[in-house]
Amino acid sequence: MLHDSDILVKLAARQKNYSLEQAFYTDPGALDLDLRQIFYREWLFAIPACEIPKTGNFVTHQVGAYDVIIVRGADGEVRAFHNACRHRGSVVCKAKKGSAPKLVCPYHQWTYELNGALLWARDMGADFDASEHGLRPVHCRNIKGLIYICLADEAPDISVFAAEMDRYLAPHDIENSKVAFESTIIEKGNWKLVWENNRECYHCAGNHPALCRTFPEDPNAIGNDLDGEDPALQDKHVARCEAVGAPSAFKISKAGEWRFVRTALLGTAESYTMDGKVAVSRPNSTLPFKDAGSLLQFHYPTTWNHYLSDHSIVFRVTPISPTETEVTTKWLVHKDAVEGQDYDLRRLTEVWVHTNDEDRQVVEDNQRGINTPAYRPGPYSKTHEGGVIQFTDWYADHLMRGLTGRSLIAAE
Ligand code: FES
Ligand SMILES: [Fe+2]
Repeated sequence: MLHDSDILVKLAARQKNYSLEQAFYTDPGALDLDLRQIFYREWLFAIPACEIPKTGNFVTHQVGAYDVIIVRGADGEVRAFHNACRHRGSVVCKAKKGSAPKLVCPYHQWTYELNGALLWARDMGADFDASEHGLRPVHCRNIKGLIYICLADEAPDISVFAAEMDRYLAPHDIENSKVAFESTIIEKGNWKLVWENNRECYHCAGNHPALCRTFPEDPNAIGNDLDGEDPALQDKHVARCEAVGAPSAFKISKAGEWRFVRTALLGTAESYTMDGKVAVSRPNSTLPFKDAGSLLQFHYPTTWNHYLSDHSIVFRVTPISPTETEVTTKWLVHKDAVEGQDYDLRRLTEVWVHTNDEDRQVVEDNQRGINTPAYRPGPYSKTHEGGVIQFTDWYADHLMRGLTGRSLIAAE
């Protein structure tokens, strides 16, 4: 197991525009560092708020060693707490999701309000101060209907991203949506391989027959190039969408941890369906035309999303071990859309159910090859893998800054 100092040496020796050294994808010490420097520090997408629409609805979410409760309070606010009782530390919520008027610890029944305050603890004596023993809060923000949490004591500033979410997602009503379907798969690959695969479409033609019916593999069109240069077709699409009040132009953050771009789908395609037509007749957007393409948004290290004219798809990435990653996908439709009437569940989900499974396969194949002692870092295609270069540069720079306070990017 590598120590931070070993990883620092490897980072300093990293060959730019090449895949990472084996240890970054296999070593328990490297995953531990990723958790400490990235997952325990940064804002993480957790769930769409519409997944817990009512008072008392909760989910639990495990990130590395942490276990978090995300719960809707009586005042309608969504809050997050560490899932550890203030008595002797038992988990308070055992289920993955559920609904409860109060949060009751299963061990000795200490009872917490949905806002985390301790309401009741039996026979703790006259000098016991319940107000000192509320559930420990986790930073939690509802950003345009998507719940982000941060496990750090002091959360980094997320206001710029939140403002861009407000702007780009203005036509998309995520808050008034519902989860029509969700899938969770465990990919036998390091979390960075899941991201590297997501950030390029070099593999699409050879692996994604269903997705390629509607999704362009052109790296310029999908914001996977290095500089956000849009081809003429994309320029036209952006202008058309922006004319109706839908922000669409390519935008990436200074540090590179998030990006937005509304990209046109192929030809006259409207949505990710086998025939290219919308999947939901009652849309969860106010976009005035169906062929508005897909607003692509990512936020490292946990989420990439597609917002279409008729529905949205949100993805969440959670490392499980050095060589296992949980990928959860949720299909969001208007909350009043009726299955069998406004949408057919199979039609809505089949393209990305297939695509996810195809991606799982290539990620697992990638991991297996990297596991062999014969693996050596290989060159990324500057034409097709600009997004991967951007991801690994962000990753390496983030670790370097965390470990040394210095950036790898000289110009910064
Ligand atoms: S550990 Fe929760 S009530 Fe005792
Ligand atoms: Fe893919």
